[in-house]
Amino acid sequence: MQEKIIILDFGSQTTQLIGRRVRELNVYCEILPYNKFPFDDKSVKGVILSGSPFSVYDEHAFKIEVNALRGNYPVLGICYGAQYIAYANNGKVEPAGSREYGRAYLTRFEAQNPLFKGITQNTQVWMSHGDTITAVPDNFKTIASTDKVAIAAYQICDEQTWGVQFHPEVFHTQEGTRMLRNFVVDVCGCKQEWSAASFIETTVAQLKAQLGNDKVVLGLSGGVDSSVAAVLLHRAIGRRLTCIFVDHGMLRKNEFKNVLHDYEGLGLNVIGIDASAKFFSELSGITDPEQKRKIIGKGFIDVFDEEARKLHEVKWLAQGTIYPDCIESLSITGTVIKSHHNVGGLPEKMNLKLCEPLRLLFKDEVRRVGRQLGMPEHLITRHPFPGPGLAVRILGDITPEKVRILQDADDIFIQGLRNEGLYDQVWQAGVILLPVQSVGVMGDERTYERAVALRAVTSTDAMTADWAHLPYEFLGKVSNDIINKVKGVNRVTYDISSKPPSTIEWE
Ligand code: XMP
Repeated sequence: MQEKIIILDFGSQTTQLIGRRVRELNVYCEILPYNKFPFDDKSVKGVILSGSPFSVYDEHAFKIEVNALRGNYPVLGICYGAQYIAYANNGKVEPAGSREYGRAYLTRFEAQNPLFKGITQNTQVWMSHGDTITAVPDNFKTIASTDKVAIAAYQICDEQTWGVQFHPEVFHTQEGTRMLRNFVVDVCGCKQEWSAASFIETTVAQLKAQLGNDKVVLGLSGGVDSSVAAVLLHRAIGRRLTCIFVDHGMLRKNEFKNVLHDYEGLGLNVIGIDASAKFFSELSGITDPEQKRKIIGKGFIDVFDEEARKLHEVKWLAQGTIYPDCIESLSITGTVIKSHHNVGGLPEKMNLKLCEPLRLLFKDEVRRVGRQLGMPEHLITRHPFPGPGLAVRILGDITPEKVRILQDADDIFIQGLRNEGLYDQVWQAGVILLPVQSVGVMGDERTYERAVALRAVTSTDAMTADWAHLPYEFLGKVSNDIINKVKGVNRVTYDISSKPPSTIEWE
């Protein structure tokens, strides 16, 4: 049985990060809503309670019967999780004099405590809370303090229950991973056997059992998730998997041809459909970004549906849905926000069962699995690319000519990033075709042509992003190349906006 750690989500922005850190220790974990603890699951080895945007005193604060966990499992409360355990046991939690936010140092801690094994004196931790624990009950002992916070961490005496007011999961807590390791491995006894190879072995066996001799269809996008899902399924069921790769005409230059070639090289049974004429016709004259997305989404389903129906007796639709797409995350109001589906609407429409072999993996784990499966590195490290493709990077209406201009400019930028070794340093990059023309001079001629914006960002999850600080010389060279080689463009700008308040895409 797959041993696991359960992370109960009280709505903190860093809950997913706790999950990632635990997985980085090669320990399997699941993030569940705060009130969905699986009491009948015998493979649970320990519980982590996340932080929360609430104060324990808020009317809408998320509350659980914490004493049902205490004593039955090792428990680690982080921030709100720690405050809540203290509060639920008659400890004192009060608004902090000043909001405790940012760096702090563990000036005093109990070095013998299992949670702090191997931790160095004055180690930096990261605080982010409005309330603070000012008194703990008699059966709690304080095991760490910072310069400002007396009760930075506690343990319940003779019990495997801890609380830390700082965030061990964030990068700025220097030895946070060590503390989580101490809890997960030493206290909970997890074996650190979760690896890409073990995931492939168990998943392939599960897929064989689940799918038997059934036929499966999968929509490829060229992105890493659907590609890894396809190779994994191919390993389990071989040619009973049929992949469909639709070209909506808004892909990068030569992308359809190149990616199709890669897929064939991987031995996949793949059908490539050039549906660009249909999409260009349906998008003609459309300028509204959301309408563009709807037309492309529906068009994709139509093409996919038509092709899949030609295959006989298909029972399953496979998708490259990954963990962040399906975690039931909690918004501040307590509403449960459910996953989006990659090919929304298809399973019901086609009466297919859904198969999502990557639904428990984070993006970096998907990449590790891809490498372990022997997939080419350029497929694995490929930047994210939006489903509607260049359609949302052409501001205003879309024409084949505009797509051609953008493909050429984008190709120069992306190849340039690759040639200079910068591609892997940015999360995502592309060019945007702006709906403006401006005056220029080329040779002796006055020009009145288009402007493009280069966009490159750094990010870890696309939720927040910063503009990439690319070298000026590089930007200068790309600008020159685009203006000299791409007919129709006479001005290049660089987007220096972060997200928030901007977004990565312009539409
Ligand atoms: P934004 O622009 O919201 O983008 O900061 C965040 C990430 O999502 C991608 N993106 C999309 N992906 N369909 C997709 O499949 C879409 O309609 C879409 N819009 C944005 C974007 O490229 C970035 O990685």
